[in-house]
Amino acid sequence: MANALRCWRQEHSKERMKDDNLPTVTSVEQKTVEQNVEEAYDAFGIGQSMLQPTLQREKHFQYLKKGLRHLSESYSCLDASRPWLCYWILHSLELLGEPIDDCTASNICQFLTRCQSPKGGFGGGPGQEPHLAPTYAAVNALCIIGTEEAYSVINREKLLEFLYSVKQPNGSFTMHVSGEVDVRSTYCAASVASLTNIITPTLFEGTPEWVLSCQNWEGGIGGVPGMEAHGGYTFCGMAAMVILKKEWMLDLKALLRWVTSRQMRFEGGFQGRCNKLVDGCYSFWQAGLLPLLHRALHMDGKNSLSMTHWMFHQEALQEYILLCCQNSTGGLLDKPGKSRDFYHTCYCLSGLSVAQHFGGGDLLHDVIVGDKNNRLEPIHPVYNIGPKKVAQAVMHFLKLPVPQMKNSSN
Ligand code: FPP
Ligand code: ZN
Repeated sequence: MANALRCWRQEHSKERMKDDNLPTVTSVEQKTVEQNVEEAYDAFGIGQSMLQPTLQREKHFQYLKKGLRHLSESYSCLDASRPWLCYWILHSLELLGEPIDDCTASNICQFLTRCQSPKGGFGGGPGQEPHLAPTYAAVNALCIIGTEEAYSVINREKLLEFLYSVKQPNGSFTMHVSGEVDVRSTYCAASVASLTNIITPTLFEGTPEWVLSCQNWEGGIGGVPGMEAHGGYTFCGMAAMVILKKEWMLDLKALLRWVTSRQMRFEGGFQGRCNKLVDGCYSFWQAGLLPLLHRALHMDGKNSLSMTHWMFHQEALQEYILLCCQNSTGGLLDKPGKSRDFYHTCYCLSGLSVAQHFGGGDLLHDVIVGDKNNRLEPIHPVYNIGPKKVAQAVMHFLKLPVPQMKNSSN
């Protein structure tokens, strides 16, 4: 593997950014990143052919386990994102195949109960106003726990009321009452509503048309109509369309061209938007689009699709994550020189899982860079939790009737 890695690297050393002797702030930053990435690759065993890129599983596990009990002061800025911390840590642990004990699971359920608003949906912490982003994170965290206690935390009637309270006449959603509109909210609403079986005939009226209006000339999707395409928003828009079974409305070929062009030729990881820097978190937001696109193009009758690989360089992405994004004491990060955090740990591992596994269920083709022990559990690319956890939650909530909205013709 180290030899293969060295060959691939040598072949791609010519893929460095060229500034045509006209340096700009952007080109100088890009050169610095390429330099740091090269050092990280060089530090890994050139000339030591027996070395294998290794996922520091035990160190990541210890970092995550500690984060469930204690967070350092630097996390105080995430006081309005506490359900996210639960989700990022629980999902990272499930990717590593590390179960959580019953007591911890129950404590998280009780904490998320305190984050749930009497108005429906979840806030960023106890007593905070409900917001679609922590609502998405809380529902995902509870589905990962997957116990009766976890499912029963979610007040589905109130959740539906909250979703209607942020629905706009043009089909979009605000993130919270009187808040901003962007395509993240569409995905969060579609994700929680589909997992918990509360979709009514009117809840997503006009929504696919609104998402479609966010796909721009670049081929990717912007936060709102007319905005620059970005991986975070493109994932949200595409995944929402998949949930609403309207992905065929998008220009899938243009989307494919845009996302595949975001994989960096030298670094191997993805950038979030054109002319910006590589970042480990886009290993999920961008590479996670490829399974969604593969399925959508397959349904669209594109029979020339590979049956063993996604349409990106899976090995190069794994090399970037394993060699440039691991903190030596546990946790993962954006790029060499940056600090670790739970967000990047979650999305680097999620992207690593996408890059390791092709297909789903029985059709799984693994492409594992490095030691076999690097293998992570697969994810469901729409919800970014384990596929079995999605199936179990859907089965559970399908047994319950879709709530009826009072005074509404849903
Ligand atoms: C740009 O940051 C980042 C954004 C414009 C938003 C990103 C959106 C997501 C990651 C999706 C969130 C999803 C949910 C479900 C809430 P930047 O300018 O610092 O980074 P860049 O230079 O890499 O573009
Ligand atoms: Zn990032």
